[in-house]
Amino acid sequence: MAKDFLILGGESTLAKYFIQTYGEKCVALNKKKCDITNIKILEKVIKRTRAEYILNCAAITDIGYAEKNPKECFNVNSIAVWNLDILTRKYNKKLIHLSSDYAVNPTNVYGYSKLISERLINKSKNLIIRTSFYSNKYYIINSLVSGKVTNAYKNAFFNPVSINRLVGEIYKNRNKHGILNIFTEKKISKYSFATMAAKTFNIDRKLIQPVDLINVEEKANLPLNSFVPSDIKIQLDEDLLTFKKHLKPITS
Ligand SMILES: NC(=O)c1ccc[n+]([C@@H]2O[C@H](COP(=O)([O-])OP(=O)(O)OC[C@H]3O[C@@H](n4cnc5c(N)ncnc54)[C@H](OP(=O)(O)O)[C@@H]3O)[C@@H](O)[C@H]2O)c1
Repeated sequence: MAKDFLILGGESTLAKYFIQTYGEKCVALNKKKCDITNIKILEKVIKRTRAEYILNCAAITDIGYAEKNPKECFNVNSIAVWNLDILTRKYNKKLIHLSSDYAVNPTNVYGYSKLISERLINKSKNLIIRTSFYSNKYYIINSLVSGKVTNAYKNAFFNPVSINRLVGEIYKNRNKHGILNIFTEKKISKYSFATMAAKTFNIDRKLIQPVDLINVEEKANLPLNSFVPSDIKIQLDEDLLTFKKHLKPITS
């Protein structure tokens, strides 16, 4: 059966959630099967696929690693995306690329690599999803559901959306082009997010330690404010409740 989506970075957290929901419409390739920095393989894969949409989840996402390996990070997160944009247009496919809240006012290599990817994509044809998402892999959620004490920044603000809502919105908006911001509505500190999550999951709030983010020179700079106004209205309290219903371990 022909598949609608070809997912690159097929073993990413996002790809796994996408497949959980829309598996019958997807074919996914991991880094071994398609390293997006290998242009020959990339062209072969895109030329051969019958899928209409190429969902790019492949990326260097470890911010510390990206900072120490900028060449590799720009190669994967920016240059390969440029090639993807060119190839998807050449073979009449639609690219859906994942960018980040960190791309808006970049403070580190990862953020700059995502900003460059946004600049290199042809926005009249392809779609950039700019987001910040939480899943059961996100350290705050992961610690809380495992009953572990976790630090959460009081002075760092963002507006993340649940991975399951994000997956649904990617599917729903697959025919759009340009940049689509998918976030929850309100700016919230990481500490407040953790307390809201604890309340929703009936977990003891004492597990959350409020701390200040203090950037140090030798590490990647983390933004104190990565809030991005959302193009879609999503309330965090409702989003957390829906996430709770879907909260289940992901098989690796
Ligand atoms: N997590 C978030 O909160 C967040 C927020 C905003 C945007 N995003 C974006 O959303 C996308 C998915 O994020 P995620 O957290 O689900 O990612 P993830 O779990 O960190 O997975 C990234 C995947 O990309 C693969 N990869 C790395 N280099 C590659 C290459 N050269 N060719 C092919 N695959 C390669 C990795 O494979 P290996 O592990 O084998 O290296 C890994 O499976 C990324 O673009 C990310 O920047 C994420």
